[in-house]
Amino acid sequence: MIRYYLNTKSIANGMAVLLTWAFFTSSVMAEGMTPTGDYARFNKEGELIRPTGYREWIFVGAPLTPNDMNNGKAAFPEFHNVYIDPVSWEHWKKTGEFRSGTLIVKELASVGSKQAPSGNGYFQGEFIGLEAMVKSQKHFPDAPGHWGFFRFTVENSPELHKTAAAQPVENCLACHQANAAQYQVFTQFYPVLRAAAGKGEAGSGKR
Ligand code: HEC
Repeated sequence: MIRYYLNTKSIANGMAVLLTWAFFTSSVMAEGMTPTGDYARFNKEGELIRPTGYREWIFVGAPLTPNDMNNGKAAFPEFHNVYIDPVSWEHWKKTGEFRSGTLIVKELASVGSKQAPSGNGYFQGEFIGLEAMVKSQKHFPDAPGHWGFFRFTVENSPELHKTAAAQPVENCLACHQANAAQYQVFTQFYPVLRAAAGKGEAGSGKR
């Protein structure tokens, strides 16, 4: 009887350990992170699964190409909030290079207002789209810099696609390759990235 009790107890303990492990694994996965440190996850068809949790990553900048400075029709309307995943940020700080596995997200936000108590300007409204670029030698062996580009935006809708296939080179990479300052990324517009590159810290106010 006692022995039976002990066995059940140790089985219960074993189950508790297993459940705790499963809970931690699934909560980590829910943030879009795999145990290898790569935030980019692909499905069997090689499509990128829409990243989540990126608003808690490292915010590198917010370029703005408003319609009213682009003949009423900007190619990528309004604010572009750009984030890099934390593991790749650590690598960037140490080396000034983007590691294989780097995931950079660009979330689009509309211009919500042009007036604030602080003055006239451009202020963020609603989220209206999501794009991403992933550096992966495995998935994009032939692409310059091994970058793949993805678009999750659904036209005229606040919804986003759950997965996205890699864009043809001419749609995205070609322009980044021709115009971006470093490694196909527009670091010329991100002082946060420039200040930290290879410095081992995020910068201390120095230029
Ligand atoms: C005509 C040139 C051009 C094309 C085509 C283009 N981009 Fe970009 N992209 C830019 C510029 C310039 C920036 C930085 C300034 C900004 O966001 O306005 C940028 C920024 C980005 C960023 C943030 C990282 C960075 O390098 O600044 C991502 C992610 C991105 N683009 C994804 C895409 C995707 C996905 C496509 C294709 C659907 C695409 N881009 C097509 C010019 C382009």
